[in-house]
Amino acid sequence: MPTSQPASPVFTAAGRHTLALVAREARADGVREVLAPRVRCTAMTTPFELEGLHVTNVDCAPSGLLDPGALAAALAACNRQPLILHAETFGNRAGDELRAVLAAARSTGARIVVDATHTALERAEELLTDAEPEAARPHDADYLVASLRKLLPIPLGGVVHGLARPTAPTRDELNADLAAVAAIAERHRDVPVLKDAVEDLLDLAWAPAPMPGPYRARLAAPGLGAELTRRRARLARLHAAVADLDVINPGAAYPPVIAHPQAAAIRTALARAGFSPPLHWPGVTDGLVVLPDDPRAAAIARRAAGPTALREALAAGEASGPAEPFDFDAFISSKTPKTA
Ligand SMILES: Cc1ncc(COP(=O)(O)O)c(C=O)c1O
Repeated sequence: MPTSQPASPVFTAAGRHTLALVAREARADGVREVLAPRVRCTAMTTPFELEGLHVTNVDCAPSGLLDPGALAAALAACNRQPLILHAETFGNRAGDELRAVLAAARSTGARIVVDATHTALERAEELLTDAEPEAARPHDADYLVASLRKLLPIPLGGVVHGLARPTAPTRDELNADLAAVAAIAERHRDVPVLKDAVEDLLDLAWAPAPMPGPYRARLAAPGLGAELTRRRARLARLHAAVADLDVINPGAAYPPVIAHPQAAAIRTALARAGFSPPLHWPGVTDGLVVLPDDPRAAAIARRAAGPTALREALAAGEASGPAEPFDFDAFISSKTPKTA
């Protein structure tokens, strides 16, 4: 386990950079395997693979979090203590059962990384603290990491708490380009391709880089608290608007995530209405719709979900008893205007 010496958090340009710092430290201490949730994006595990760690997929519960039984089975198969990546996906937090498996694993030497990217609105205060006072250290984990650029109002940013040997990330040319393009993309939000360029550059820039100074300053600005309160309130209203649907993260400070058999069609309807594609991890979130943070999105999702509801109602009707035989010809002739 890392030493218990409190150390400062490290602020980086992206979440993947924080995971790279964790991967380096764990690798140097002899860790060789990461148990990672199957519900995730590649940027969460590539940093570990780049450091030569083996990634083992662990099945998730419907909440998107590690399934406690699957995690226990994966732990039992490890021949040395692994690192467990526990992501608070969709803003969901571990329940008692998962917490118990994580605590038991930690007590026998496994390291726990909590990825709070999706709980960053809820955990903003502890994530953004500059010092590493004892109270701000993760109590039930070794590392607390987050990509801050998903839910907080900055285009580049990540943070890691709990590194035993924190090293300041260094600047390199690619990361300087990244910061420049991110700044341009922010000035021209109406040009989505610029935002894509930031993501493309990030997929090349795996070397941990520091968070650009202006974004660090923005996170320390006095108005941030009020802005985050507004964001949380807006999300709470959005949750209330879809509470009757199959929402897998009720009450989370994260956009509602709806499980629906027509999820792909709903995502298409949202894209056609001009919403930039919200989170979708192909192969693992195919049956889910992450609702954009906009009240109009709820209405569009409902409309797109409608045909299924109708089909389900018809199927239920069919199941309720044999249908009357339908005379198609009689129906057509009843509709055809009769000539005298
Ligand atoms: C849960 C989670 N952790 C980490 C990351 C990586 O963050 P970044 O894209 O800032 O590197 C992502 C990206 O989608 C994520 O969803």
